[in-house]
Amino acid sequence: MRSFHWFRSGLIGFVATLLAASAMAVAPVGAAPVPATRVQTGPIGFPAPVVQQSGQQLEIFSWWTTGGEAAGLEAMFGMYRQQYPGVSIINATVAGGAGSNAKAVLKTRMLGGDPPDTFQVHMGHELVDTWVIAEKMEPLDDVYAQMGYDTAFPQGVLDIVSYQGHPYSVPVNIHRANVLWYNTQVFADAGLTPPNTFDEFFRVAEALRARGITPLALGDVGSWADANLFETVLIGTLGADGYKGLWTGQTSWSDPQVTQALETTKQMLAYANPDHAALSWDQANDLVISGQAGMTIMGDWVDADNLAKNFPSSGWVMAPGNQGVFDALSDTFGLPKGARHREAALNWLRLIGTPEAQDTFNPLKGSIPANVNAGHATYTPYLNESMQAWKTDAIVPSLAHGAAASEGWVTAIQDVLTVFVTRQDVVQAQQALVLAAADANAGR
Ligand code: GAL
Repeated sequence: MRSFHWFRSGLIGFVATLLAASAMAVAPVGAAPVPATRVQTGPIGFPAPVVQQSGQQLEIFSWWTTGGEAAGLEAMFGMYRQQYPGVSIINATVAGGAGSNAKAVLKTRMLGGDPPDTFQVHMGHELVDTWVIAEKMEPLDDVYAQMGYDTAFPQGVLDIVSYQGHPYSVPVNIHRANVLWYNTQVFADAGLTPPNTFDEFFRVAEALRARGITPLALGDVGSWADANLFETVLIGTLGADGYKGLWTGQTSWSDPQVTQALETTKQMLAYANPDHAALSWDQANDLVISGQAGMTIMGDWVDADNLAKNFPSSGWVMAPGNQGVFDALSDTFGLPKGARHREAALNWLRLIGTPEAQDTFNPLKGSIPANVNAGHATYTPYLNESMQAWKTDAIVPSLAHGAAASEGWVTAIQDVLTVFVTRQDVVQAQQALVLAAADANAGR
């Protein structure tokens, strides 16, 4: 068996942050915005599966609808169908990056006693605070024991998918949220090298603008994309420890470096496409692919999007100031209490944690396996580098993707950023962020 040593140091800090922040903020499963409809479709590019009335079913709920997301999910469905040909998979997807729409639909269904058989949920606060503490999930000790999962995932990951010693979901991947993606052809034509610092970013942005190219593609139709950008600027400004301290109370949200991060974010927004509020993350990435824009700062699902769209000029570096820091999140699946097709769901959970499933899913999804025995398939150059970085970088929890803070706190921060993007008032935004942290702390 492979040694876990390589991930320990980074993950220990990561877990400590999560646990401390967990003590600070436990979000109630409260009134969620009521979604208009429950959407059941096949992901884009794949036919919706036919539901056989007589056979057994398995409803899998996620927000994976874009090219690489759908391709990865469909590949795992293929493995499941091979093993369980009598089961019809219902692919219950609700489009919207980072679960911006799906989470509200899920909440309504769960509270209404209509859970899917299994659903996508981020490792960390999103899983534990929202669903486990609310006693909506079944523990998965038996699946873990049966499948050897208790030694297949890094201890840090096991800690974060567990509550009071019991695991509650199975991780399919590890994603990195702090990457700057750029069009290598556009940069070559302009004689530019990708930026590593904020100063270089602004120099490159000016040069691109002078050529009539949008420097920074942004798609914040869901305000999580603002949070995603902002968290990379926080990391690049405060460093890994300072950023982690924001979630444990060790770094104050009134710190001058947070002011600086807001100023930098404001300056960056001035280089974004004017229609950013109308676009999704993948539509923003399309601007980079077409060469209308030079860069986008986004998680590594962009790698999968570029692969699915056969984009030959995909380039990447870490977001400015983020070198050596892995801003981590993980997609997991769990078993809600009251699942109608419980055994079929358990079989899904028994499949998705295996090295075979992870090596099928992740190269298409733009993520790296969570299972330490996987990683032997053909991965893109980006993903090979990410696997290396996961072993050596400082690991910090993502804000926008459920790892760093409770959903209530994340929503409060996103609301602040939505106003900030329009008003660009640094003082007001920082005051609101301080209040959001105080509210979250009140749950301590
Ligand atoms: C993240 C999720 C990723 C990817 C991304 C964009 O929250 O963990 O798997 O789907 O959103 O939708």
